[in-house]
Amino acid sequence: MRNRLIVGNWKMHGSMATAVDLIMELEQGMESVPENIDVAVAPPFLHIDEVIRRSSNTRLLMAAQNVSAFEVGAVTGEVSSTMLADIGIRFVIVGHSERRSLFGESNETVAEKFARAYFSDLTPILCVGETQEQREAGFTEDVVLEQMYAIIDRIGIKPLLNAVVAYEPVWAIGTGASASPEQAQEVHALLRSKLASESEGQTVATRLIYGGSVKASNSAALFGQADIDGALVGGASLDAKEFLTICKHAGK
Ligand code: PGA
Repeated sequence: MRNRLIVGNWKMHGSMATAVDLIMELEQGMESVPENIDVAVAPPFLHIDEVIRRSSNTRLLMAAQNVSAFEVGAVTGEVSSTMLADIGIRFVIVGHSERRSLFGESNETVAEKFARAYFSDLTPILCVGETQEQREAGFTEDVVLEQMYAIIDRIGIKPLLNAVVAYEPVWAIGTGASASPEQAQEVHALLRSKLASESEGQTVATRLIYGGSVKASNSAALFGQADIDGALVGGASLDAKEFLTICKHAGK
């Protein structure tokens, strides 16, 4: 049985003080989250170290929002996978649609970042998802599979079988309009079946999580779907009470 996973993506929000407040509130609330739910947060880079210091005795796992595609060296402004692993980061988000659209990250760049994370013993959280136009044109399956196969083409299937894939329809991110549980389930089932068919008999331990306007009010219905193993939560992860409620819903 795969443990469910809830990841809070804090994006570029807050200050050192609000990051510390948020992690302290989450720490206190974690007691009420069932033991078999894995919970991670992805603070801004500048706040991660302090957040780790404040949360070292809890079940809260740490994630990074981004990682360099380069290994080491004269790469101004970048943060490497080994640096992340060195300070206790467990997960790293790669291929988030904001990085694809605002920073022009291609499937190839995302695959390179995924590989860097994997070889540094970090668990990549690969984001895939279609835009509104692509959905309306009937290209949802093609888009998400192309994004996933870019990883398989770069490093093979094995690293994906222990990673996390987040289905995040671009039209649902930050809009308040989540995909319906059925829409999300349909894509998750597709991803799961492709992973199984590519797995060459190996165990598929990939956790498939949904992201895009997940809130306390819609999370239980999403988690009721067979192939949804958790959530990648943006806006709602900045409110400790709301985020903890989502985590609790994953336990039902
Ligand atoms: P949202 O963001 O929950 O604010 O829609 C999700 C994400 O971008 O991961």
